[in-house]
Amino acid sequence: MSMFDFGIEEDATDNHEEPTAPPKTVQLEPFAQLDLSQLLDSLPPLISFSPLPIRLWAGGRDNITLSRRDLFDARFQLISEGHGDESSSKPTPSTAALGFLDAPSDLVPGVYEGGLKTWECSLDLVGYLDTLDLHFSGKRILEIGCGTGIPSVFILHRLFCGDSTSGSETHVHLQDYNASVLELITLPNIILAWYMSPAEQEYRSSESDPDTEYPPADPTASGELPLTPTLKAAFVASLSKYGIKLTFSSGAWGSLHAHLESTSEPSYDLVLTSETVYRTESLHALIALLHRVSGPNAMCLVAAKVLYFGVGGGVSEFSAALQSKAIIQAGCAGKAESVWERKVGVGRKILRIQWEA
Ligand SMILES: C[S@@+](CC[C@H](N)C(=O)[O-])C[C@H]1O[C@@H](n2cnc3c(N)ncnc32)[C@H](O)[C@@H]1O
Repeated sequence: MSMFDFGIEEDATDNHEEPTAPPKTVQLEPFAQLDLSQLLDSLPPLISFSPLPIRLWAGGRDNITLSRRDLFDARFQLISEGHGDESSSKPTPSTAALGFLDAPSDLVPGVYEGGLKTWECSLDLVGYLDTLDLHFSGKRILEIGCGTGIPSVFILHRLFCGDSTSGSETHVHLQDYNASVLELITLPNIILAWYMSPAEQEYRSSESDPDTEYPPADPTASGELPLTPTLKAAFVASLSKYGIKLTFSSGAWGSLHAHLESTSEPSYDLVLTSETVYRTESLHALIALLHRVSGPNAMCLVAAKVLYFGVGGGVSEFSAALQSKAIIQAGCAGKAESVWERKVGVGRKILRIQWEA
């Protein structure tokens, strides 16, 4: 299933291919929590990145540029790890990811859900979050269906640019359907946000590797970042110093919901999701999860296109589903208030959800 024209321009690998036929019986991905140290170990010795400029809307503010790992570089990583070897009999998640890196906009229900690419509404969410001037420090934040994780990367950028001694722990939980998205793109983007911030500069001035050539901490330039053991250790030390806990989880929404119920995990203060309401069959699971994770005073924001042509979902479907009989019976009914709208071209909105119970 292709959502041609709905993503933002990325790089030369962004070729749209014929939609892949959905598998007949889809076994949804189970919940998995990914350990940060194992994720760090799985990274290659060097990553390449490019600037992602984001327009901020609040008057008087400079726009922001974040760094984002290049998709071609993630592809190169998988090929050099041997995942492109056609003689290998059993396909792994990484060989599948290699296929999707060539066509990051193509969705295959229950197999790959588009997280390798940065979608437009995630940038809308950054613009909107910036207007709110929220304090993220000490909050529990969850991004559902994060993909490249740009709203969370923005929040982490703000945290790394802030005061490291502000006290209570900030928890940022990043969830994507595909573990390979979190490994290949989401975590590298977070490391880049740290590298480009004053938090990394403290490390640079104290104990940089004398033999390694690091790029300038300039998010407006493309570059290559060596992921040395020293750099990874400094990243982990900065997380601890800034009181930031990162959680990465993969799997279908229903599986995360079941996990949270079984572990009595507390709710979140800020719940974000962008470009996740395109498939009507998934709306019930998404709404039930959003309801479960939203604390009593939580801000729950859903950024989406008004309509996903050829797929069926969109803002109206989602708003109607919040009041559907099944959702009311499940005790998760809510109302969606539009807090931002773009009417030009394919319409886009940001909805704030008010839960009824
Ligand atoms: C089009 S991508 C959007 C990625 C990112 N939020 C953005 O805006 O750039 C849709 C995301 O929704 C998530 N997703 C879709 N259906 C899902 C499901 N049934 N269970 C869990 N995650 C799902 C995937 O993680 C995927 O990354």
